Amino acid sequence: MDIPSTLLLLGSVIALLILLSWRNKPQNLPPGPTALPLLGNILTLDNRAPFKSFLKWSKTYGPVMTVYLGTKRALVLVGYDTVKEALVDNADDFVGRAPVPFVQRILKGYGLAISNGERWRQLRRFSLTTLRDFGMGRKRMEAWIQEESRYLLDTIKEKNCAPFDPTFYLSRTVSNIICALVFGQRFGYEDSHLLHLLQIISGVLRFGSSTWGQLYNTFPWLIELLPGKHLNIINDVDQLKTFSRSKIQEHKDSLDPDNPRDFIDCFLIRLNQEKDNPNTEFNYENLIATVLNLFLAGTETTSTTLRYALMLLIKHPEIQDRMQKEIDNVIGRERSPSLEDRKSLPFTDAVIHEVQRYVDLVPLNLPHYTTHQIKFRGYTIPKDTVILPTLHSVLRDENYWEKPWTFDPKHFLEANGNFKKNPAFLPFSAGKRSCVGESLARMELFIFLVSLLQHFTFTTPGGPESIEATPEISGFANLPHKYQLIATPR
Ligand code: HEM
Repeated sequence: MDIPSTLLLLGSVIALLILLSWRNKPQNLPPGPTALPLLGNILTLDNRAPFKSFLKWSKTYGPVMTVYLGTKRALVLVGYDTVKEALVDNADDFVGRAPVPFVQRILKGYGLAISNGERWRQLRRFSLTTLRDFGMGRKRMEAWIQEESRYLLDTIKEKNCAPFDPTFYLSRTVSNIICALVFGQRFGYEDSHLLHLLQIISGVLRFGSSTWGQLYNTFPWLIELLPGKHLNIINDVDQLKTFSRSKIQEHKDSLDPDNPRDFIDCFLIRLNQEKDNPNTEFNYENLIATVLNLFLAGTETTSTTLRYALMLLIKHPEIQDRMQKEIDNVIGRERSPSLEDRKSLPFTDAVIHEVQRYVDLVPLNLPHYTTHQIKFRGYTIPKDTVILPTLHSVLRDENYWEKPWTFDPKHFLEANGNFKKNPAFLPFSAGKRSCVGESLARMELFIFLVSLLQHFTFTTPGGPESIEATPEISGFANLPHKYQLIATPR
């Protein structure tokens, strides 16, 4: 075919696509930037930090926008009032989870974090009860975290003030807590297999936040045809699955139904109890996928927040110093911190809250989904629309934070120094789908950070000015730049 004919054909196809998408466009959708056929709004979307584009566009189109990610329609919710009205006041309409293509490819729709309907209901209720029974938010878990802190302190002490990258020190510590809950065991820090699995988990999060990962999720059919990083990550995740499968088999072989040791035992017992129930969701696929959900979500999130927290304390030595003084006065340097201490440490509590607000770990939130047509603020949102209740816009909402873009613990302090709550503190999201690990994560952040500050002062070889506090990667997650930590014993 000659060039003019090819161009004519291409032009006709594009015109047809525009016509079709215009004819099929649902009525009464919220406004949003003009979308191109097939590509939607991705050409004008900042692919290194999509949430920034959403915030910018909302200045023109308002807090409820329609955006197209490729051909996928998405409802973007901006600001605390809007996100809360959706996730909390209209919880049942916004409870669905969007199918994220990369995660679907790996987990095939199984597991707590990506399922919907009856599957999600059964797995969510079971997971929350079981995590609670095993001490999430209670004394027993507190004792585990205190014990794990001691292992961390000992390992850091061995560094003898030499600079080191804290990434995998922190992730091994945090992952041991979730391993104790799920697998009933902790791993030695020298265990090279665990370290390898943690490197895989970290790689998955980096991939999810990379441009390639976002392209995969927007055009899965196209990227699947190409060679690239996604194939390595899929192979890597298979190793995590194999590990979980072998742990599940060990549990099956040694199961005592009267004495469940951990999450896997409880699931296996329930699976046996419900084996004749045709509607049960307690099966091996859901067990493996939920174990992976907890292992991934429970490790990288909390350890990245801790890594970011130490970085911010290096950048703001006066804040680190004030925390240490408060901790010295209330707990001293001998006793392990307990949750009871939190209310007597308002400044420390405020700093930890401010770290989570400023870090803004999951800026877009996990995507929600309409599983039926819904009405919201007078608009009609069709079934199968992706919902993005952006946490970035909540944690930076100018109506709720005095200096949204500045790291300042005063956001959580009364003038008299007491701790001050703020409704827009939603790093774990809100409503029926909110993070199941919130109380565990908050307990870990508090006990690990206070223990570290009791025993060390943290600096970096280049001094506070050398720290670049803005994220290195911003996509699905905000990930900090690498840095070298010097821990000087106090
Ligand atoms: C600082 C630490 C953490 C942060 C910032 C965080 C944040 C979040 C966010 C934003 C969501 C999405 C909520 C929504 O869809 O509206 C979520 C979901 C989830 N989180 Fe966390 N999380 C953290 C720690 C943990 C831990 C320790 C666990 C494991 C015990 C965990 C397990 C999960 C699971 C399983 C879900 C999916 C819940 C569902 O779909 O019903 N997270 N988390």
